[in-house]
Amino acid sequence: MGFRYIGSKDKLSDIIISEIKSINNEACRVIDLMAGTGLFSLALKESNYCVTAVDVMTYSFHHLNVHLNLVEAPDFNGINSVESIINSKPINLFGVRNYDIILSYLNSLKPVKGYFYQEFSPEGTPSNTSKPRKYFTSKNAAKIDAIRGEIKRLKSANTITDIEHSLLLHDLIMAVNDVANIAGTYGHYLSKFVKRAEAPIELYPSTFSGVGRTTDHKIYRGYAEEVSKHIEGDVCYIDPPYIKRQYAANYHILETLAREDEPEAIGDSGLRPWRDQYSNFCSKVKIRDSFDQILTNINCQDILISYSEDGLLPIDDLVSFLQNYGSVIKKDIQYKRFKSNDSKKAAKLNEFLIHLHKN
Ligand SMILES: C[S@@+](CC[C@H](N)C(=O)[O-])C[C@H]1O[C@@H](n2cnc3c(N)ncnc32)[C@H](O)[C@@H]1O
Repeated sequence: MGFRYIGSKDKLSDIIISEIKSINNEACRVIDLMAGTGLFSLALKESNYCVTAVDVMTYSFHHLNVHLNLVEAPDFNGINSVESIINSKPINLFGVRNYDIILSYLNSLKPVKGYFYQEFSPEGTPSNTSKPRKYFTSKNAAKIDAIRGEIKRLKSANTITDIEHSLLLHDLIMAVNDVANIAGTYGHYLSKFVKRAEAPIELYPSTFSGVGRTTDHKIYRGYAEEVSKHIEGDVCYIDPPYIKRQYAANYHILETLAREDEPEAIGDSGLRPWRDQYSNFCSKVKIRDSFDQILTNINCQDILISYSEDGLLPIDDLVSFLQNYGSVIKKDIQYKRFKSNDSKKAAKLNEFLIHLHKN
């Protein structure tokens, strides 16, 4: 399954990058202000741009760290002195990397009946409600507990570096996405286990891209409204949420994996307290103020904004609001968008690319 992320621009990268080129063919640094999966940042890197990437979610930070800062598997030198890991070397493999060894080790860990098992599996006893949740099979949830516990332990023992830590958390999140018993987002689990969710969870090695610009990227975890005061670029791409659904609530489980904590899981859906990552872009009332802060703060003349025909703000309202800051050109693109329900068909939607050249 890989990434299933509301509003992911994976399929639109080429169109957006050609728009950036037509805005400023000399552009060197491009800001990806709401970077999400980091896949668009990766496409920018591969097109030779220096990327400054920002998102409020912690899982996004780890994805970005992998996409922007790794061109090959890191050494994982720290594991050479840990016998239990080195002994788990896959047999009959030539040229095996430490990266493969540590994944094989993590995949072979004994399950642990920990937080994920208790809160997110049918055999668990959730702390906040009487009805067990079904995000994962009990076996997978206990495996997730074992793997996340060991990644955390290896990091606190300094056996792995920061970037190695990001890579293992990224791999864990990708593996969890493959077996999650959900229709698209983690807003709720499905009442019956789907086939995909019954497969045993397994970490697979990531692939790395050495194409394009391999240095000088910057990553920030935080609110765009705040971070925009401190960054600059030739073009700034903004891909805000366009509907009411908060990412922090819909991807709470990925955030818990990324933060490596055990928050109170609240209500039927087991949401972590997520208000600290609330997005004003999901509120009709607050969205203009947030745009205003960003457009006023940011040291960048050319802003390119993705927005959808079914966004919270009608597109004409957004265009006339942006005209307060400079000249605006709106372009129309059609594409099949990921919808987070179980309907098999992807919806065809008009997506807009709005170029604001600030006064
Ligand atoms: C439409 S998604 C971006 C998808 C991304 N372009 C991709 O291809 O994966 C919107 C992103 O904005 C982030 N976000 C929402 N409000 C934010 C804010 N005020 N500051 C920073 N990031 C924010 C969300 O966490 C989410 O990842």
